[in-house]
Amino acid sequence: MNILVCGGAGYIGSHMVKMLGTKGCNVVTFDNLSSGHADAVLSGNLVQGCLSNTQALRDLFQLYQFDAVMHFASYIQVGESVQKPAMYYQNNVANTLNLLQVMAEFKVQHFIFSSTAATFGEPQYTPIDEQHPQQPINPYGRSKWLIEQALPDFAHAYAMKSVCLRYFNAAGADPDGKLGERHEPETHLIPLVLQAASGRRKNISVFGTDYDTPDGTCIRDYIHVQDLCEAHWLALHYLQQGGASQNFNLGNGQGFSVKQVIDTAKAVTGKHIEVVYASRRAGDPARLVADSSAAQATLGWKPMLADLSTIVQHAWAWESKQVATNQ
Ligand code: UFG
Repeated sequence: MNILVCGGAGYIGSHMVKMLGTKGCNVVTFDNLSSGHADAVLSGNLVQGCLSNTQALRDLFQLYQFDAVMHFASYIQVGESVQKPAMYYQNNVANTLNLLQVMAEFKVQHFIFSSTAATFGEPQYTPIDEQHPQQPINPYGRSKWLIEQALPDFAHAYAMKSVCLRYFNAAGADPDGKLGERHEPETHLIPLVLQAASGRRKNISVFGTDYDTPDGTCIRDYIHVQDLCEAHWLALHYLQQGGASQNFNLGNGQGFSVKQVIDTAKAVTGKHIEVVYASRRAGDPARLVADSSAAQATLGWKPMLADLSTIVQHAWAWESKQVATNQ
């Protein structure tokens, strides 16, 4: 099977490329390396290019007969999206439409799209299932939601079938230790906490202690990157076996507070972690937890690395490697 992975040099994309390689697929990564890393592409070919370049995409599709496209390439920072909405709509919406256009031209009909819990906005209830209303509260969430809404039109016009996977909080690292999270700047809780444990940063700020949760800090559903990739693999099979277009929420269904994550990191690393209590970060809902029963029922997906300690252990192994490499 020939699979195009857009954004295959990034955090989740690179884990996917590695997995597809082990499954015997021919993988082509298309990535502009704006935030990805060439050395994270462990399987197949890396083509450096931008989704804004329609001709480059046509050349690529001409060269390879792709059976399916997985699309991980996007900007992901909520705060930045509020400051720079055009940048988010340009990359996450317009560039994705270029990709879909070229897919249509070359009759590539299976598309797996990285969507997000941010398409739901402030939750009206938890756990959040696929029936929950989608009312994104920032340009990042809206940019992903716009693509979700456009896909049925591509299905109608070109018989293109898609699966949108709405990640909750992607975390962890490759269990083999070859890949991990390398965002620059890093904004996500688990890698930041572990950087505070390794000494790469002085402390971890807890954004808000007055939320309506048992310990006052925000609750999130952390899902191992490997389990996310497994869901993509199953989604690919689902489409190839004639499954209809569908959207799935992906999480473990269990929420952990910021304080619980820090306590887990202390237990896993055995290190002192300096905690600073700060004010709330704009746009953070108190509680985001997924109901993933649809993915489990339809795709046969089951998170295998659901335990928060395991997620933190793998991320810690990666952080320790970064520290050792930089010394
Ligand atoms: N947090 C801190 N201190 C930090 C960083 C984060 O207390 O230094 C807190 C946040 O306030 C939040 C929790 O830790 O309560 C998790 O924050 P992350 O930034 O790790 O993740 P988010 O839940 O904000 O974001 C994730 C994805 C986004 C996606 C969003 C869906 O990274 O891409 O879920 O709502 F949009």
